[in-house]
Amino acid sequence: MVREKPSKNLAVVTGCGSGLGRSLALLLAQEGWPVGIADINREGASQTLKMAKLLGGRGDVMQVDVSNPAEVEEMADYFFGKWGKVDLLINNAGIATAGTISELLPEDWAKITHINYLGTVHGCSSFVPRMIKQGGGHIVNVASVAGMICLPEMSPYNSTKAAIIALSETMKVELAEHNISVTAACPSFFHTPLIDDMKATNDFQKDFACCAFNYARISSAQVAEEILKAVKKDKLYCIPQASPRINWYIKRFNPSLYHGIIAKLIKYNIGKPFIMWLARRGWV
Ligand SMILES: NC(=O)c1ccc[n+]([C@@H]2O[C@H](COP(=O)([O-])OP(=O)(O)OC[C@H]3O[C@@H](n4cnc5c(N)ncnc54)[C@H](O)[C@@H]3O)[C@@H](O)[C@H]2O)c1
Repeated sequence: MVREKPSKNLAVVTGCGSGLGRSLALLLAQEGWPVGIADINREGASQTLKMAKLLGGRGDVMQVDVSNPAEVEEMADYFFGKWGKVDLLINNAGIATAGTISELLPEDWAKITHINYLGTVHGCSSFVPRMIKQGGGHIVNVASVAGMICLPEMSPYNSTKAAIIALSETMKVELAEHNISVTAACPSFFHTPLIDDMKATNDFQKDFACCAFNYARISSAQVAEEILKAVKKDKLYCIPQASPRINWYIKRFNPSLYHGIIAKLIKYNIGKPFIMWLARRGWV
């Protein structure tokens, strides 16, 4: 393999075949970063590279299933081999699963855990030792505000994202001595193809997700901008939208009271219509 002359900033982003990953790759490309564009969907990733080139950027595509640690290790080998270093890794690949706890199947839990959570762990495990060797770097783990405020009937998604937040908080402290920074990106809903293949166990879950996506007040491009701003400011948390940020502050003030109130609202059939009402206004 011919090693390229190292540029100032080099990034690898997973889940770049559409949505937020694509927006992140395009923004980085516009800012002059060569980007490693990784996705399980080679066609989508190639399309992203084409778009990046139209913006004057450059990069390389790699087909990777993040749930497979050997493939992620190969990806790290490839990009570090080619570029000599990687300054920024964004673990973005993910899927969504909705459902009630009594209806979800073990395979639903296994699938989302392997992609969302272990996919992120694999990225960190493969890139961190190489970043330590090169003297530093930055890792963004794309979680979700779902892992902080935990809306009902989304337990697999909420749990994987909460685990990513815990992983990021741990790494932030553990890796400081190695000059490696960590950001947990925690957006709320924005429109992407994420829910196209989402499993749901009732119509409310699908209707709510569609509503939240269609009425979202922020685009994937704006979320990508907020994430890169957080990287530049070395922030641990990036919560781009205001209403979930306020929700998170309220929850932290008194978590028992917060979840107690939501539980009561759901129990007396006020909760779901209220959440839908908020979603229709782009306030979730
Ligand atoms: N859209 C939202 O409202 C929202 C909100 C909060 C967080 N997020 C998170 O943002 C990230 C990106 O999601 P999106 O909304 O852009 O959806 P998306 O479906 O457009 O993008 C997800 C990408 O991940 C890829 N992917 C799926 N499984 C993979 C695997 N095993 N290996 C490699 N790539 C894989 C898909 O091919 C796709 O290109 C996800 O982690 C998601 O949980 C999204």
